[in-house]
Amino acid sequence: MISSELIRKRILVIGSNGMLGQRLTEYFLNDSNVELLTVSAEEESFIKNAAYKRLDIVQKNNVREIIMDFFPDFVINTAAYTNVDKSETEREIAWKINVTGVENIALYSWTVDAHLIHISSDYIFDGKNGPYSEEDKPNPIGYYGRTKLAGENSIKTSGVRATILRTNIVYGPAKYGRQDFVKWVVNSLRANQTIKIVTDQIGNPTFIDDIVNAINSIIEFKKEGVYNIAGKEILTRYDFTLRIADYFKLDKKLILPIITKELNQPAPRPLKSGLIILKAETEIGYIPRSLEETFEIMKKEIGL
Ligand SMILES: NC(=O)c1ccc[n+]([C@@H]2O[C@H](COP(=O)([O-])OP(=O)(O)OC[C@H]3O[C@@H](n4cnc5c(N)ncnc54)[C@H](OP(=O)(O)O)[C@@H]3O)[C@@H](O)[C@H]2O)c1
Repeated sequence: MISSELIRKRILVIGSNGMLGQRLTEYFLNDSNVELLTVSAEEESFIKNAAYKRLDIVQKNNVREIIMDFFPDFVINTAAYTNVDKSETEREIAWKINVTGVENIALYSWTVDAHLIHISSDYIFDGKNGPYSEEDKPNPIGYYGRTKLAGENSIKTSGVRATILRTNIVYGPAKYGRQDFVKWVVNSLRANQTIKIVTDQIGNPTFIDDIVNAINSIIEFKKEGVYNIAGKEILTRYDFTLRIADYFKLDKKLILPIITKELNQPAPRPLKSGLIILKAETEIGYIPRSLEETFEIMKKEIGL
């Protein structure tokens, strides 16, 4: 008889302190068929009972040591420089993390013949003609988008077995770290603060746990290539905010419509964006939850 130890999958989660990384960590921690190692840039892990090491993905030797030592079957890279506006001015660090770091991960995943699952973004598109399929031509309009596209390309040229999952407007019941859009809306409206929300940005907000399920299916079906993993509904940020306010019974008069140009943000935003999820639905059985189902989960799990 084969011992279960021999058939356990070794999974390395990179960026485990991030929003997606911490939910993935919690998910795989409860799977007895998985031997899990989590790594992130901070000294300590948010998830206390997970095996954790500090890793700066920009440091090639550091990446080599971690991957060659653990010899994972799957490497899931959720680490990224995610500040879109700061990417315009902090170009070197954004490039190092989103491109050089990804090159390092791809190289050593290839070396140990691991399957790399990497998260990318709709910001690789210009937002003139969304929603986008996996086949559409990228044309980033900001520096963050450029780095995300270059990261994808470095994986494609590395020869590693890989799956690139593109997503947008991620939110969910992550307990630690920065606030996502839904939490910010709820907390601001509860505090009676007015919020200015754009009416000209379109996308399909994506629940973190739907991405976690998609990653699990990618592992199960051993699918490679590019997949859009995003929410069920494509809507404006303003309409999304109204739906949040409706569900949590908050004062909609505090939500002020505005257009993107008026915000004067350092980075341009793709306006007509969103990701078509048909390929994931048909090939890996991906079924995103409805907005209201996701809000319900956030209410239950983090008391939102
Ligand atoms: N959030 C969105 O709306 C959205 C939309 C589209 C695509 N995405 C993509 O989805 C992925 C996950 O996003 P997220 O929202 O979960 O990001 P996040 O919360 O900002 O987490 C990213 C994590 O990356 C880690 N990290 C940064 N630099 C690192 C380095 N040099 N070495 C190792 N780890 C490093 C950080 O770790 P420490 O905390 O330990 O410093 C951070 O926790 C990213 O690839 C992002 O581009 C996100």
